[in-house]
Amino acid sequence: MKGVVLISGSGSNLQSIIDNASVIELNIEAVISNNSNAYGLQRAQKSNIPTHIIEHQSFASRAQFDQNLSQLIDQYTPEIIILAGFMRILTAEFTQKYAGKMLNIHPSLLPKFQGLNTHQRALDAGEKHHGASVHFVTSELDGGPIIAQSSVDILANDSAKSLAKRVLIEEHKLFPKVIHWYTQGRLTLNHHHATLDGQKL
Ligand code: GAR
Repeated sequence: MKGVVLISGSGSNLQSIIDNASVIELNIEAVISNNSNAYGLQRAQKSNIPTHIIEHQSFASRAQFDQNLSQLIDQYTPEIIILAGFMRILTAEFTQKYAGKMLNIHPSLLPKFQGLNTHQRALDAGEKHHGASVHFVTSELDGGPIIAQSSVDILANDSAKSLAKRVLIEEHKLFPKVIHWYTQGRLTLNHHHATLDGQKL
């Protein structure tokens, strides 16, 4: 299945998707970053995947940025759009256009800790467990239907950094697994919930 991956940073999730691409039956047609310094761009280039930089600072409004991003994505006619550390709030027009085709990974056990600094916030809240979630993207920030989660125990001596590191290890397993469900046609967005093999998640 043809997919496009959107990134903003290191791209370690992108790397795990690249490494698993043939197993998960995904052809990564392009990697798009809103940040020209994103290390993930180099990861894509090493794997001969076309890359694009579309910097949000160059656009007068969020809507204009999203329209241009959408035009770029559509050149590749992808069946799946993968947000792998893409740190941008998207307009409702954009998310509606790709409803049911766009997946995001978020570093928390949603609905807990939407937004930024999730690891520190989990520590500050005295949580015993933390983790990552993959969800369908809707207009609600980090709020679309959850597909799957992976959790880790929070240890007594954890820092945000040590916790992030363990959560990332889980992310690198979780995201390719969920993407494969999608490429196999097992995963759909029905109204306000996700289904796997016809069963509500
Ligand atoms: C990952 O932890 C991902 O879950 C998070 O950004 C990191 C990107 O790392 N995404 C979000 O916070 C989205 N709200 P990576 O560039 O190494 O894959």
